[in-house]
Amino acid sequence: MSAATVNIAIIGAGLMGREIAAAIQRWPALIDHPVRPRLTAVCDINPAALAWFDEIDTVTTKVTDYHELLADPTIDVVYVAVRHDLHERIYIDVIEAGKSLLAEKPFGIDQSAAQAILAAVEANPQSFVRCSSEMPFFPGAQMAINYVRSGALGTIVEARNSFLHASDVDVTKPIGWKRQNKFCGEAGVLNDLGLHTWHVPLRLSWAPDIVYGVLQNIVTQRPDQDGALVDCDTWDNAVLHSWATHDGVRFPLTTETKRIDPGQKNTWVFEAFGLDGGVRFSTKNPKAVEIFAVTDVPGAGREQVWQHIDSGSQSVWPTVTGPNFEFGFSDSILQMWAAFLAERAGQLGDRFGCVTPQEAAATHGIFRAGIESNDTGTATAPLR
Ligand SMILES: NC(=O)c1ccc[n+]([C@@H]2O[C@H](COP(=O)([O-])OP(=O)(O)OC[C@H]3O[C@@H](n4cnc5c(N)ncnc54)[C@H](O)[C@@H]3O)[C@@H](O)[C@H]2O)c1
Repeated sequence: MSAATVNIAIIGAGLMGREIAAAIQRWPALIDHPVRPRLTAVCDINPAALAWFDEIDTVTTKVTDYHELLADPTIDVVYVAVRHDLHERIYIDVIEAGKSLLAEKPFGIDQSAAQAILAAVEANPQSFVRCSSEMPFFPGAQMAINYVRSGALGTIVEARNSFLHASDVDVTKPIGWKRQNKFCGEAGVLNDLGLHTWHVPLRLSWAPDIVYGVLQNIVTQRPDQDGALVDCDTWDNAVLHSWATHDGVRFPLTTETKRIDPGQKNTWVFEAFGLDGGVRFSTKNPKAVEIFAVTDVPGAGREQVWQHIDSGSQSVWPTVTGPNFEFGFSDSILQMWAAFLAERAGQLGDRFGCVTPQEAAATHGIFRAGIESNDTGTATAPLR
């Protein structure tokens, strides 16, 4: 198959800009992908951040004003990884320039920003837009999603999706933009980690009709760059208990997003239990998928039985990696991009895809309900 070349530009050459640039360099690992991306351009307001991209031969354009990239007719797709307060302006500019966009979460700093971006998406159908969420591309997560879809759980009793960090346990860690509402957004940790915990539930059509929020601001001050203590006003941890519906039956669905969960380090967990079976996957043990069923056990009769599967390396798009080998975070980024560019080319088929603009915007309605619920102590319906 001859793959169509797509030129990519990155806006924001920080943590995620580099992660994505590195993932694209591993593209030949994908088998028979319909698209061949070339990273040709990068923009950052900080010229020093651009130097890292000297390592990548295909990058021929390095600029400090992103409008130059949007005016470049050779660029097809833009990945934007900047502070949340900058999402709305830059995403809308990318979309209105007719470029395709892989946006970073949380897809705007709040619900109003997300709705404005969504309106731009709907007004500019030539721009293909999706939002970043890579953890469901772990093969174990895919196995768990497919297990739920198979109907093996029967009537669902409960489900949970969590994203757990201990990144902020150290109270001397400097404040940074992610810990200030004016840059990160009023939803705090929900803006940072929440979309990662709603991609799968929303894809399984588990949009909640009511939300109970339990939010914590544990560390209220942190040192700034000069060591002076300043207010740290973002929510550190947020647990959203909600009611969702599967096959006409309501069940409790919980999402957890925590920056202060001692003992965790980028742990993404999905589990769902029903009357007939259950499934559990955690990136803490990234090969293992546990499934549960009530079965006949010789000599013991009907028993509740847990089984453990090693999920191997293969995710949504096949790779040259041996199927028994291990999978990691950077593989999940590659798979997310494989899904994004295949869907843009109309060739994703029934494979699992990236977060849609509608799903991303819906998460802000859920976060808003969680915050209101926490403030008022009452259950709150998400605004749609
Ligand atoms: N998907 C994930 O797993 C994941 C992980 C971390 C962060 N993120 C998201 O990625 C985004 C960026 O986070 P990060 O950790 O990479 O941030 P970062 O602070 O490491 O990098 C942001 C970069 O943007 C640059 N920048 C600021 N204003 C700019 C502008 N107007 N034009 C061009 N560049 C500009 C900064 O100089 C900086 O280099 C956020 O939305 C964040 O929530 C996603």
